[in-house]
Amino acid sequence: MTQDEMKQAVARTACDYVAEHLPVGAILGVGTGSTANYFIDQIAGIKERLGGTVASSEATARRLAGHGIRVFDLNDVEAVGMYVDGADEIDGSMAMVKGGGGALTREKIVAAVARTFVCICDDSKRVGTLGRFPLPVEVIAMARAHVSRELARLGGRPKLREGLVTDNGNQIIDVHGLSITDPVGFETRINQIVGVVSNGLFAQRGADVLLLATLDGVQTFLR
Ligand code: A5P
Repeated sequence: MTQDEMKQAVARTACDYVAEHLPVGAILGVGTGSTANYFIDQIAGIKERLGGTVASSEATARRLAGHGIRVFDLNDVEAVGMYVDGADEIDGSMAMVKGGGGALTREKIVAAVARTFVCICDDSKRVGTLGRFPLPVEVIAMARAHVSRELARLGGRPKLREGLVTDNGNQIIDVHGLSITDPVGFETRINQIVGVVSNGLFAQRGADVLLLATLDGVQTFLR
């Protein structure tokens, strides 16, 4: 099975999970990325059960709307029952690195509101220690150099993601060379740097459920 086939398999399982666990009429938060895209294509088949969706990026909103799935502004919903999204890395405590697609800030906002976070990925994303995947940090453009210096002081090698402007009009610095042994503490430290909008560590609000595609099928892990 290819990695792409594994993403499709976990997307199908996630759709079944939503159908089984999200109350009819509740709002579903939808993530960003290639795995999330397969998931969006799947939930087109159960859209009548959903009260609607909240999107974590403009790209996701467009894909949802393309399937005729209703997309709400987060400010216009009372609650988000479940959030389903991929990850770039996930560790044994369900902490994640996210933001490879540049949507980390909105993903973090929707995840914070959601009652349940369901992470969907293939087993290449499972790691012992986070940090092999460069950690994305969204920054206000005028603070880019300052934030980069501070990130270097924390032990990383910051590199501007050239040519990318986020949905929020900001820039992304990818931090290479990290070995994140205290994801909760490191997430907090980066957030304290002035000029940082958010960082791609999802440790304080990790996943509640992991649907992991493996060569032996999709496995379910609970926090
Ligand atoms: C988007 O900003 C990311 O957080 C994605 O969720 C993450 O990069 C996973 O993407 P893939 O499903 O494309 O691997």
